[in-house]
Amino acid sequence: MDLINVDSVSDVNELEKLIASRKPGFCLPQPFYTDPGIFDLDLQKVWMRYWLYAGHTSQLPEQDSYFLFRLRAESVVVLRDENGEVRAHANVCTHRGSCILTEPSGRAKNLVCPYHQWVFRRDGSLRAAKLAESAMDPRRSGLVPDPGKAFDASLYGLKSVHCRVLEGFIFLCFAPDPPSFDRLVDIYKPHLEMYKIADTKIAFSKTYRVASNWKLIGENARECYHCGVGHPEYCRVIPGSNLLYSMEPFERLRDKKLEEWAAKGIPTYGVNFEDANDWVYCLRYPYSEGFVTESLDGEQVAPLLGHRQDPDVGVFSIVQYPDFWLDVNPDHLTHFVLRPVSATETDVEMTWLVRKDAVEGKDYEVDKVIAVWRTTGEQDWRLCADNQLGVNSRYYQPGPHTPVEAGPEQFDSWYINELLKP
Ligand code: FES
Ligand SMILES: [Fe+2]
Repeated sequence: MDLINVDSVSDVNELEKLIASRKPGFCLPQPFYTDPGIFDLDLQKVWMRYWLYAGHTSQLPEQDSYFLFRLRAESVVVLRDENGEVRAHANVCTHRGSCILTEPSGRAKNLVCPYHQWVFRRDGSLRAAKLAESAMDPRRSGLVPDPGKAFDASLYGLKSVHCRVLEGFIFLCFAPDPPSFDRLVDIYKPHLEMYKIADTKIAFSKTYRVASNWKLIGENARECYHCGVGHPEYCRVIPGSNLLYSMEPFERLRDKKLEEWAAKGIPTYGVNFEDANDWVYCLRYPYSEGFVTESLDGEQVAPLLGHRQDPDVGVFSIVQYPDFWLDVNPDHLTHFVLRPVSATETDVEMTWLVRKDAVEGKDYEVDKVIAVWRTTGEQDWRLCADNQLGVNSRYYQPGPHTPVEAGPEQFDSWYINELLKP
């Protein structure tokens, strides 16, 4: 497949033809999963416009801690400023553009560029530019950006990236005018408050390089057509996930539990994907009888989050396009973060959080905490890589979404919708 260069008019026409060739009710034409030009377009039209999950506040334990968020060409320093507020700055020196911090995480009182040692404060402002103040003195040289004017450090602060924190989760957005974050707060906060997620820590995290376009992984996460055969462990934990069986018993159990939870004052509302404009989804639902969490045997695997006494709150799930999935259990939570690498590769980070004061080996065993989702995730990554192999073939043609694939259908329609936006 030829690379589609969307910068040229003729190729814009080609892109329009390609978009028009996507039949509603069917998965996407091949170039959307394989073409490097389309992949670049995805970055511009989707990834540079949405809120993206960056990390958790427990990754900034000290006043001078930082970590880097990386997505293709972009590197962003996430840190706390002098007032303790979480901030995000482009990791790009305002002198001649060097990357400033190179270690993925660490501590830095100031941000010092390794090239000519310009020093930036944690709020991004330029604190000192070695030699610049005197070297750019108009009496000494004509080789200055604006001869006649003294060097003005206030013009050379680091570029900031929008950054918001919600219940310990740090999100950032590259768009000049991001989508409403307050809407996310309204949706998530009532559900998440009781778990005190800001008081958790990472029990385990692993990044998988999956040989799959990010949209194949997105589609996979939006349906359980494959669960009955593909995820036996998950199906034991979550009723209704094995579509080979009738939904009726699950629906009865769900309705009963929702009533019980509402009576206990636990939020039970969900947010559904209604149409192609929706990019956030959340739902609370029960475990199978005898399960209190997502563990292989259904037993609790870590101390209850938020110092709750009653584990019976079911599982609360979030799906947030384009990059974030979350399952909150009463005793631990698991999240998935996508980072597109190329048209046919995606990094998937899986992270498990437990209460901050829980002691490994005493209060929890990592293997037990991660068992269900490590197994299920690895099954998915394999399915997605196999999916990509078939999609790469000359014999691939977009097949129909079945009635139980309303999820991938909505996801694909949302994606096409994003490409059509100016
Ligand atoms: S490029 Fe950073 S100080 Fe020169
Ligand atoms: Fe799956």
